[in-house]
Amino acid sequence: MDGSIERNLRELEAEAQEAVPAAGGAAELEAVRIRLLGRKEGRLTAIMRTLGQLSADERPAAGQAANRVKDVITGLLDAREEELAAAAEDGREAVDLTLPGRTQWRGGRHPVTQVVDEICGIFRTLGFSRVRGPEVETDWYNFTALNTPLDHPAADMSDTFYLPGGLLLRSHTSPVQVRTMQAHAPPIRVVAPGMVYRRDPYDASHAPAFEQIEGLAVDEGITFVDFKATLAEFARRFFGAEAEVRFRPSFFPFTEPSAEVDVSCLLCDRQGCSACKDTGWIEIMGAGMVDPGVFEQVGYDPERYTGFAFGMGPARIAMLRYGIPDIRLFYEGDVRFLRQFA
Ligand code: PHE
Repeated sequence: MDGSIERNLRELEAEAQEAVPAAGGAAELEAVRIRLLGRKEGRLTAIMRTLGQLSADERPAAGQAANRVKDVITGLLDAREEELAAAAEDGREAVDLTLPGRTQWRGGRHPVTQVVDEICGIFRTLGFSRVRGPEVETDWYNFTALNTPLDHPAADMSDTFYLPGGLLLRSHTSPVQVRTMQAHAPPIRVVAPGMVYRRDPYDASHAPAFEQIEGLAVDEGITFVDFKATLAEFARRFFGAEAEVRFRPSFFPFTEPSAEVDVSCLLCDRQGCSACKDTGWIEIMGAGMVDPGVFEQVGYDPERYTGFAFGMGPARIAMLRYGIPDIRLFYEGDVRFLRQFA
């Protein structure tokens, strides 16, 4: 067998041993295959062509040697092809595009906070500033200054949590009316959101701690018409242009006359449903013209000034808007519930 053919075959085999495992992908591997075994220009083909120069008795051994090298190279190519296919398969497993994305929970504003902000935003466009007052109050601010002597039945109705030293957790946001009037001369237009506390049961429609938004407007010449128009305008902006409001006579020691304000039930369009207890109306706030007795407590001249006040429960309003059946959902902190509003 011709020495140069043998050497060429050995070189070819060595090159294959190096080049085939180094091929990084299917296309690269195919290029290597063509370079080594390609029928027209391949290295093996070129060597085979030189077999013709050999004598008849040298040719069979050289042919056998060439076939062996071809088998070796084919084996290398097949092995590498399998490796590359397996790696591609692994890659697919590592990135499963059908899995839901791992988005990060970003948090969001609590649904009641959203309603508070929206309500205060509406009143802001009507000229009301947003103020705050303390949750721990004296009984003077919570009751006495609001024309509610401690032996008055209304003080019982909103019994609350008493703290040492004559302090209590405010049972409504109305003390912020008193604090605002003490701190500022009229004209006053404020809304005061915040938590209030009552010795109430914890059930589907009550919580011992809940949000209120107080409103107060005081100036010369404010009338019952301003009172009704302002609250009706608020209801239309919050609940929609079709919302109707009605004022039912009521009683609060710090307003005279007093009213409870109802909005037409959005869920049944006043046909009657479980949300409105078949009445077609849902109560959204207590309100009224500021009682002159309150003006006297804060040193305003009741002959000169008039005004109106209101207090509403944004949690109730959020329940109404979103069709939430149980107020406790707001206070349990279950992210599966809360994230629906984020
Ligand atoms: N403070 C009253 C309550 O908690 C609501 C109210 C506020 C009524 C202002 C009239 C005026 O029930």
